[in-house]
Amino acid sequence: MPVLDTDLVTKLFRKSLIVMSLSLAACGGSSGGDQGGDEPIREPMVESLKALTDMPLGVAVPAAYYDYFSNDILQRPDLQDVVVQHFNQITAENIMKSSYLQPAQGVFEWQWADQLVQWALDNNLTVHGHALVWHSQMPTWMEQFDGDAGQWQAMLDDHVINVASHFNGKVVSWDVVNEALSDCASANDSYCGDSAATYPYRNSVLYQNLGADFIAAAFRAAHQADSSVPLYYNDYNISANGPKMDALIIMVEGLLADSVPIDGIGFQMHVDYNWPDITSIRSAFRRAAATGLLVKITELDLKMNPNGQNSRFTAAMAEQQLERYQQIVAAYLEEVPSEQQGGVSFWGVSDADSWIPHHTGHDDWPLLFDQDLKQKPAIEGVEQALITAQ
Ligand code: XIL
Repeated sequence: MPVLDTDLVTKLFRKSLIVMSLSLAACGGSSGGDQGGDEPIREPMVESLKALTDMPLGVAVPAAYYDYFSNDILQRPDLQDVVVQHFNQITAENIMKSSYLQPAQGVFEWQWADQLVQWALDNNLTVHGHALVWHSQMPTWMEQFDGDAGQWQAMLDDHVINVASHFNGKVVSWDVVNEALSDCASANDSYCGDSAATYPYRNSVLYQNLGADFIAAAFRAAHQADSSVPLYYNDYNISANGPKMDALIIMVEGLLADSVPIDGIGFQMHVDYNWPDITSIRSAFRRAAATGLLVKITELDLKMNPNGQNSRFTAAMAEQQLERYQQIVAAYLEEVPSEQQGGVSFWGVSDADSWIPHHTGHDDWPLLFDQDLKQKPAIEGVEQALITAQ
């Protein structure tokens, strides 16, 4: 009598459910506008996302810095439970940025980040470090640092080496440089005004003082302090596969040619329900993987209301979000060879904690859990993509 491979049967059964639910979702409308009547939004019962994959599956979490951030995960057992149940990695949403770690020159404040890292390690979560060098959320003293290029470089190296050494053995990867590329479409893009001169780099205080050299220097300093973890360049809007992605590839190839210790490309992926189109996203992943580096989705969230026209999140929008999350995670898993998959991280747990409403000025319902930490249909999109890839 043939022995039934129950694992295989379960897998096939799950896959056929996925195909059915995707076709249902596809019937759910695609305009993203107020629609879908008054049906309640389903609450899925996904047991554990992390159980479905071997790769890092991460989430950004809020933590305290004095009383500056109110929604500290360490004070919220309900949030901790969801993180531990579904994820195997965290990113500190803010407190490992330079303004919190080195608020005054030479004064490092480790206690907030240390508490968070300890909680993560106690709960079998790894930590993705974010971010060593970034023009934003820099302390004022750093932004206004008065010195020539040599002094600027020494000051930045000092920050990178102190931070990467402090967390050596505790983080499993770093975003070393964040957002160094320009959003201009070309050197004479009038929309970009003052950064045209620096194209394709962002006209940041870092660039103004050091030119593009700060990028290679940051990777070298990070490598000097911690040579055992993958070091990422991280940026947004590169999944549109436009001029910014072209610039990224040229930059990465240049760094590799100069033997700069860069190991990975981080796609932030703060995307919309309808932008970028999935073909662009796929080709961007493919091009990043073709560099031979690791590729990680570092900050995934998905705006369902990018133009602010919706006053509420409907059942139809929830199903549409499921489908879009499924497409994006599946595109990543299919286009990036498994040995180059640095993992997928979401930028926040619940819609209530998302940075997006502060950023866009309206609700966008971008994450996998609602304001009450209940699962949204979106989580099934991720579940389905992970199961299909098993
Ligand atoms: C955001 C945080 O989510 C907010 O709480 C903070 O006010 C601003 O920064 N790209 C990044 C992240 O690399 O660090 C940003 O995080 C979101 C955009």
